[in-house]
Amino acid sequence: MVEEYFYDGSIEKVKEIVSSLGAERVFLVHGKNSYELSGAREKLDGIQGITEFTYFSSNPTLDEVKAGMEAFDYDVIVAVGGGSAIDVAKLINIFSFQEHAPEKYVLKEKSIEHKGMPLIAVPTTAGTGSESTHFAVVYLGGKKYSVAHEYILPDHVILDTELTLTLPKYQTACTGMDALCQGIESYWSVRSTENSKEYARKAIELILENITKVVQMPDDIEARRKMLLGANYSGKAINISKTTAPHACSYVISTRCGIPHGHAVALMMKEFIRYNGENYDSVVDERGEEYVRTVMDEIYTMFGCRGPEKASEFFASKMEEVGLETSLEDVCKGIDFEEFVEGVNVERLGNNPVSLNRQELNKIYPIVADNERR
Ligand SMILES: [Fe+2]
Repeated sequence: MVEEYFYDGSIEKVKEIVSSLGAERVFLVHGKNSYELSGAREKLDGIQGITEFTYFSSNPTLDEVKAGMEAFDYDVIVAVGGGSAIDVAKLINIFSFQEHAPEKYVLKEKSIEHKGMPLIAVPTTAGTGSESTHFAVVYLGGKKYSVAHEYILPDHVILDTELTLTLPKYQTACTGMDALCQGIESYWSVRSTENSKEYARKAIELILENITKVVQMPDDIEARRKMLLGANYSGKAINISKTTAPHACSYVISTRCGIPHGHAVALMMKEFIRYNGENYDSVVDERGEEYVRTVMDEIYTMFGCRGPEKASEFFASKMEEVGLETSLEDVCKGIDFEEFVEGVNVERLGNNPVSLNRQELNKIYPIVADNERR
């Protein structure tokens, strides 16, 4: 059972949890700049026996996780930061307690059998919702993998809005868009349940209402609170339903073109909002075509729109409102179609309500002649 603390200043709770666990050695994974910027360092300074680990990138590799495992011999692990910090902490913790090499679990050759130490997750962005999921993303040999097990879910979650107030505009926009897309993908996922759809709907509504506010007025604490809650709901939603095509197609854009995760997903979302609503003859959801039509219409209604075309335009206008470039071709130069297809996460693509083959992917990611790209 996850214990959640959602109030301003709740980061203070970390000290209490650490002492109630009787922990003497604390392993702290945190982002390089966000830890100072968010004010978390100041709040956690008094805790004794902390070892800090910051050696990881925004798309964390297994080598970085292994570096953390070398230093890991602790009673509790605390993750403070965005999705990468929380994912790295989850993996260092879980892999340190398994019998085989981490690669075996990443490549799904072995299953996770043992739980790690108690994990306290403290997000400093309103984005991935990683604090509420039982999976973690890691890159191995340039490919993205998701490691999943119920033991990966954090034990304690601290949702402290004050930590998100200093998040710069572009990051606020990117992480907020990630949460919005997770909500939308979860809502239309073939694995959705009534429960996940409830979380997803709340996430979509909260984020649509507040994302522009937090970008334009970063100090609006009420809007920040709602974003943090919305992102948390989006994590809870995908924890059940997983993500779908926009996430599946986004990873290669992030790694090859250096586009932050949320921005890359939003670029793809703009296309799939239209694509899924225009291709009901390729529905793969077992609940049938009528069901998927209803789901898509419900999403369009949440946008205040009717039909795929208008909804896609609305989504693009939201991206513009928060300062995100909306043209995939402008943002992502130098990656060709072959590479794009090669980088698509097939497992996540399978959760999309509408099937996509190579030809159909080409409609989403058109080949642009090499000379036009440079
Ligand atoms: Fe995401």
